Amino acid sequence: MVDPKDIDFYSLGFNFIETKTMFMANHKNGKWDDGELMPFGSFEISPASCVLNYGQGIFEGMKALKAKNGEITLFRPEKNAKRFNLGAKRMLLPEYDVDKFISAIKSVVKENKDYIPPYDSGGALYIRPILFGYGPVLGVHSADEFKLIIFTVPVGPYFPEGFKGINLEISKEYIRAAPGGTGSAKTICNYAGTMLPAKESKLRGFSQILYLDAVHNEYIEEVGAANFFAMINGKLATPRKSGTILEGITRESVLEIASKKLGLEVEERNISYKELYEETCTEMFCSGTAAVITPIASISLEGKSRIFNNREPGEVATKIYELLTGIQRLDIEDDFGWITKV
Ligand code: PLP
Ligand code: COI
Repeated sequence: MVDPKDIDFYSLGFNFIETKTMFMANHKNGKWDDGELMPFGSFEISPASCVLNYGQGIFEGMKALKAKNGEITLFRPEKNAKRFNLGAKRMLLPEYDVDKFISAIKSVVKENKDYIPPYDSGGALYIRPILFGYGPVLGVHSADEFKLIIFTVPVGPYFPEGFKGINLEISKEYIRAAPGGTGSAKTICNYAGTMLPAKESKLRGFSQILYLDAVHNEYIEEVGAANFFAMINGKLATPRKSGTILEGITRESVLEIASKKLGLEVEERNISYKELYEETCTEMFCSGTAAVITPIASISLEGKSRIFNNREPGEVATKIYELLTGIQRLDIEDDFGWITKV
């Protein structure tokens, strides 16, 4: 573990840092044990383990934040618990009780409270629950032993640009998910396949890829690790839940903030990438636990680029960022009932 005194909480990126405590529960003979807190560390795993050979695994991403008064908040943790179980079902993993999940999250956060970045740093304690097929297999079928682990890492912004616009590349070559596949589950397999496209795109100077749908190769799906929004014809549009996008908790919250706090008309629909090149599209941003609200400065497809708002964050992205992070850090009244205190 790294001593929290040796961490500069004011210059954190999104990189692994070892903290003090993790939670581990085991599922054997058809049932979960009670689980326990233990020092963060390695464990033994069979080379024939199902997760290593066939990728039977899911994860979640959450954040604990420090408010101005020192209180620690979680954002809609019950949503993560429920999505975790939907993913578990899809990947033939055992579900975990929602209340137990939230109580395990709280206990890991409390144990690692010295790693929560201070309020004025803008950072967070990122919480990473993972669940995977631990037992050995040879044929392609589920393991019969499973592990749930929850660990934490202090983080700063996901994109090094912070709350500045990122440059995205639309891909006509790579697809993230297809109908009937696992796109809406937070399975580890969905991420491994995006590493090569992301690396190639970075070499061309872009922060990330904007993925299109697998069937028409035309409609926006999402960014590698965040959902997508655009202001088009004065309405806030986001790709509809098609089964191929990750149904983000921030996405859902943005839609509620935009309609209920900003009085914007919101639409969940198919958005052609061609619409992003029209004058009627005035602003774009992406959303996620790690990405929070990240404005999009430019998009590019096969050399055809469009720059938005002189690369400055748009008005809607800025307002939503302020409202969302204000609620999360208790600076703004939580009318929605989204905050759980640790
Ligand atoms: N899309 C993908 C592929 C993601 O990995 C994430 C991150 O969790 C999101 C979208 C945003 O989801 P959320 O807002 O629940 O963090
Ligand atoms: C999150 O926002 O929590 C994510 O899961 C993104 C992650 C892949 C870094």
